[in-house]
Amino acid sequence: MELRKATISDAPFLQEIIRREFAYALLSPETIVEKLVDERFLVIKAIEGGEFIGFAELDLLNDPARIGVARLNAVFVVEKHRGEGIAIKLVKKILSLAKKQNVVEIFLLVRFDNELAKGLYEKCGFSFEKIYDKKIEGKEVEVWSTPLK
Ligand SMILES: CC(C)(COP(=O)(O)OP(=O)(O)OC[C@H]1O[C@@H](n2cnc3c(N)ncnc32)[C@H](O)[C@@H]1OP(=O)(O)O)[C@@H](O)C(=O)NCCC(=O)NCCS
Repeated sequence: MELRKATISDAPFLQEIIRREFAYALLSPETIVEKLVDERFLVIKAIEGGEFIGFAELDLLNDPARIGVARLNAVFVVEKHRGEGIAIKLVKKILSLAKKQNVVEIFLLVRFDNELAKGLYEKCGFSFEKIYDKKIEGKEVEVWSTPLK
């Protein structure tokens, strides 16, 4: 399995996954194309035997009010390859690349009932910070974060 920076040629596959899995505000199939060419975003893809099997996306935010704070927007692995540790590798790669870009803290939003994702984030050093002040698709959302040391 290889991890590489996603490029514009990955747009159709990413759009298809996002349409299927992330039908909410933070990610839309249209904006992923802009993100692939925008230095504010870091999109890492996982490839196995030439096949696209997953991705993770970080928004560096570049918010002057929160210098060094980035947001992990998504982690996805195709069903066939789940449980092989690919998501952990994707998130760890994002963490190490973020560190090189002077990120000091990463936060993310996760639905309270996505135990699978919470297990993944815990393994990658994230911990629960607070309940998010808005619901997504009527469900409570949690904010998790990790400092980058
Ligand atoms: C969440 C997701 C990215 C995990 O991908 P994955 O490659 O299967 O995860 P990994 O194999 O790297 O496992 C990482 C950890 O996640 C948790 N996990 C993964 N699969 C699990 C399962 N079937 N049951 C329970 N925990 C699981 C475990 O803590 C696991 O660590 P462990 O294997 O050492 O116990 C994947 O299931 C997915 O794409 N889901 C749909 C999209 C999504 O919900 N993304 C997260 C919110 S943006």
